[in-house]
Amino acid sequence: MAILELEQVTYSYRTRYQQVDALKDVSYAFEPGKLYALVGKSGSGKSTLLSLMAGLDLPQQGRILYEGKSTKELNLTHYRREKAAVIYQSFRLFPLLTVAENITYPMELRKVSAKTARKRVGELLEKVNLPASMANRFPGMLSGGEQQRVAVARALSMETKLLLADEPTGNLDSENSLHIVSLLRDLAHQDGYCVIVVTHDMEIAALADEVLTMRDGRLQE
Ligand SMILES: Nc1ncnc2c1ncn2[C@@H]1O[C@H](COP(=O)(O)OP(=O)(O)O)[C@@H](O)[C@H]1O
Ligand SMILES: [Mg+2]
Repeated sequence: MAILELEQVTYSYRTRYQQVDALKDVSYAFEPGKLYALVGKSGSGKSTLLSLMAGLDLPQQGRILYEGKSTKELNLTHYRREKAAVIYQSFRLFPLLTVAENITYPMELRKVSAKTARKRVGELLEKVNLPASMANRFPGMLSGGEQQRVAVARALSMETKLLLADEPTGNLDSENSLHIVSLLRDLAHQDGYCVIVVTHDMEIAALADEVLTMRDGRLQE
């Protein structure tokens, strides 16, 4: 059973002077328990596709179905908070919040009690192989690899079944990159997440269960 289905998804950016057709008729079905790599040249539409799957906007034509329901019919704010967790290349941690506060922030949005959220921090740090002592540190005091682990922990705190990552290893050295991708693969294989990773690194893509190639807004078979 697919968790996320793309049906002839089409998306254009329109400015006053030009129209860029970023996605053309993209169809695919993503299943839980798998790590997917989305590869392709710069400008081929990968980030656009990821942002539609994350619920940042709706396709102009075609549909994206989450567990059978079109994102057009879902409340997108709810979808973003409860269904799709996103990890970015630049980590995007809140610099003035501690690691623990970064991780509990999505839970606050979901009105999880502070006590429950605080308890989850320890479990999540362990899940991403960080010591519990890291909870009270600030992102600026951590290495890139550690910051990305915190970002993964924050994404996991949302308790979604879907994890989306746009070039999550783009700012990491190759050793840390492999650690992060193995972590994402374990989350797919052991915990049943559907993980979709945009990458241009073929070494990373080789670790995925399925590799999808975008070219000029289309998905190549
Ligand atoms: N905000 C935007 N406004 C106009 N064009 C955009 C915008 N974002 C992306 N594009 C264009 O859409 C196409 C796909 O971009 P993108 O999805 O970012 O590709 P990728 O992530 O594969 O590099 C490119 O031609 C890009 O220039
Ligand atoms: Mg991109």
